Amino acid sequence: MDLGLGGRGYLLTGASRGLGFAAARALVDDGARVLVSSRTPDSVARAAGELGGPPHAFGTTADLADPAAAGRLVTEGREQLGRLDGALVSVGGPAPGTVLDSSEEDWRAAVDSVLLGTLRLVRALVPVLGEGAAIGLVLSTSVREPIPHLAISNGLRPGLAMTAKSLATELGPRGIRVFGLLPGRIATDRILDIDGRSADPDAARRAAEAAIPLARYGRPEEFGRVAAFCLSPAASYLTGVMLPVDGGMLQGLW
Ligand SMILES: NC(=O)c1ccc[n+]([C@@H]2O[C@H](COP(=O)([O-])OP(=O)(O)OC[C@H]3O[C@@H](n4cnc5c(N)ncnc54)[C@H](OP(=O)(O)O)[C@@H]3O)[C@@H](O)[C@H]2O)c1
Repeated sequence: MDLGLGGRGYLLTGASRGLGFAAARALVDDGARVLVSSRTPDSVARAAGELGGPPHAFGTTADLADPAAAGRLVTEGREQLGRLDGALVSVGGPAPGTVLDSSEEDWRAAVDSVLLGTLRLVRALVPVLGEGAAIGLVLSTSVREPIPHLAISNGLRPGLAMTAKSLATELGPRGIRVFGLLPGRIATDRILDIDGRSADPDAARRAAEAAIPLARYGRPEEFGRVAAFCLSPAASYLTGVMLPVDGGMLQGLW
């Protein structure tokens, strides 16, 4: 299937590694051009290089917690790519912890980057997007079911999901689509780090895999291909959805 991505331009945040990078890889493999960003200059440069560099992939440094980042990313995206057909917004996940032991400082940091960082980028982006564009938010299965020891994610993601749903309704008449992706356990640094915090990381992984019908963690490229499809013109009638990419882990249908 031709996804229709050839020549299109996409902005990806949190994309020097992990899920954002995997999505960038899938987009570039199907002919799109990307601007990838994260907070660390070396990581961004390496990621853009691994994606083939200009004219296929450009990199820029941006911390989504910085209020100035959104406008700058959109300006650079238009300059480097010549056009912007959408974005995949991924941000480093909130600090782990329970409701009672998560500090107010950790909540505030997550609100600044995960919540406000995403909102600011979307608001900067929408005015420059045209019909056929798409915005994807990388969220979590915590949109639908709380994850133990990820209280801040459990608190913020459902609100972002409903915000994305509202935005899909607002932007639908302009032909701009909005969707959320709900990764379960995809084997990125983030997930390996969370497992690594337990007393027995291998046992933690085996226990997590036992709760996944496909009986394994997902591979980043499996997530990346879903993201690229959802962003592409091939998904032109898909909007306002929260799509689990979780090997069947979520048990409820809705
Ligand atoms: N992997 C999974 O299975 C899974 C499951 C549920 C939810 N998620 C969520 O999906 C998102 C991405 O996860 P991941 O597994 O790809 O994580 P990851 O492997 O840790 O990668 C995170 C990426 O985001 C960048 N980043 C971190 N903080 C940032 C900030 N404030 N502004 C801009 N970029 C930032 C990192 O680069 P720098 O350090 O250079 O900034 C890196 O490129 C996270 O929010 C995570 O909670 C992932």
